[in-house]
Amino acid sequence: MKLIIDTDPGIDDAMAIAYAAAAPDIELIGLTTIFGNTHVHQSSRNARFLVDKLSLNIPVAEGAPFARGEDRHAPSEHVHGPEGFGDITEIPQIGENHAQPAAEFLVEMARKHRGELVICAIGPLTNIADAIKLDPEFASNLANLVIMGGAVFCPGNITEHAEANIYHDAKAANEVFAAPLPTVLVGLDVTLKTLYEIADFENLAQKSPEVGGFLCDISRFYLKFYKEIGGLEGCGLHDSTAVIACTHEPMFEIVETGLHVVLDGPEIGATRVNPARPPVRVCRDVDGAGVVRLFTERVASLP
Ligand code: RIB
Ligand code: CA
Repeated sequence: MKLIIDTDPGIDDAMAIAYAAAAPDIELIGLTTIFGNTHVHQSSRNARFLVDKLSLNIPVAEGAPFARGEDRHAPSEHVHGPEGFGDITEIPQIGENHAQPAAEFLVEMARKHRGELVICAIGPLTNIADAIKLDPEFASNLANLVIMGGAVFCPGNITEHAEANIYHDAKAANEVFAAPLPTVLVGLDVTLKTLYEIADFENLAQKSPEVGGFLCDISRFYLKFYKEIGGLEGCGLHDSTAVIACTHEPMFEIVETGLHVVLDGPEIGATRVNPARPPVRVCRDVDGAGVVRLFTERVASLP
């Protein structure tokens, strides 16, 4: 499967990109970056660092620095660390960004790989909304859009009502859900059922010292956050679960429904069922243990 990941790396983003690099059923053809866990220039630097670490020969196209709607964004330093990689703060600038901005790159790749390209969006949806605006055929050129975002049947994480990726650009997310796109939503409804514990990271580091070791190092900060906030003994494999959904839909229980996003008031950023909207395949349940197993098995094959 030809895949582009739209990302704000970010600790769980780094895990998802490593998974995609290891997956034999994924041909990763590029990364596009977005503000979110960090500012966009940090996302791009981190993405280029990961491309190098994973020996990938793919472009990194930088995307939007701000939300389309009201800008309520502040980097999630308390979750992902000051530079996006936990306690690791010295991240070298490797290579350069692609000449095209993210939305243009997405539009061009969707046209080139018409009917074949899957985009997995694991940050705020600004670049995707921009691509929809840029090319009226973008939606129909895509094979699938798989989104890590939202909390349809459960509480949010950034507020009681909203999940972080949707909250950071509620307007863009609402525009994406209004478009006739073949969309799968992988929200907190399922990603919090894929807990990855410190013992899982240590096991991964042993099997894959270079990549797994790096993921283990950056995750210590992330695990501390999960422990402090929810008393959890692990972190959700949020972004990796979305990448896994691109190729392993049968691992998920899916309901089809339209969605909109609340655009103001105390519930801003909440994802709400709206039957008048185009259908989205919303993941309601998951084989969480299966996702954890598959993630470990594949990432462990890396150096
Ligand atoms: O709510 C989880 C999402 O927010 C993940 O994509 C994580 O990386 C953060 O961006
Ligand atoms: Ca992310």
